[in-house]
Amino acid sequence: MATPRNVAVIVGSLRKASVNRKLALAMAELAPPSLKLSIVEIGELPHFNEDWEASPPPAVTAFKSAIEAADAVLFVTPEYNRSVPGVLKNAIDVASRPYGKSAWNGKPGAVVTASPGGIGGFGANHALRQSFVFLNVPMLPHEAYIGSAHTLFDDAGKLANDSTRQFLTQLLNRFAGWIESNLAH
Ligand code: FNR
Repeated sequence: MATPRNVAVIVGSLRKASVNRKLALAMAELAPPSLKLSIVEIGELPHFNEDWEASPPPAVTAFKSAIEAADAVLFVTPEYNRSVPGVLKNAIDVASRPYGKSAWNGKPGAVVTASPGGIGGFGANHALRQSFVFLNVPMLPHEAYIGSAHTLFDDAGKLANDSTRQFLTQLLNRFAGWIESNLAH
């Protein structure tokens, strides 16, 4: 079998009991053998400061290297105030600079948003897509808004909803095809 594609997974929530982190971990288990999903942490990144572009802090260099080493990127995030959480926007900005040296450039991407609410983080999902049009990340054009997300897990934090498991499995299979067709160009 061919070597799996490495997918860097960025979770947009830092809290321990995050439903988005649980979803990301579930997706790592549901992924087809052609994909290897690994969470790249963003909680220790400093706030972006254009002054340190020439000599960024080690956490920034390490994060950029992790993105550069990945074949593709997957975002699993909540919506904060109808947009992307600040920690996630910071991670996007950090890895996008210096200008012309963005770590995101050309990586196929996908986004899943999850919320206890009914519209599943729709606003954050599309706000995130806006940045990645500029950053030349071809985003899987498949909608993935997970509503009532707090009801989908068992006491051990495992995804316990069959239709959500099927939905995410289908999404991951589509993403695998999307990665191959977009890396080829
Ligand atoms: C929220 N929440 C929220 N939910 C939503 O559907 N739309 C929104 O705009 C917001 N805004 C928002 C702002 C802030 C600052 C917080 C802390 C929360 C609720 C949010 O979806 C809920 O806390 C999720 O559980 C967060 O995801 P994690 O941490 O469980 O992954």
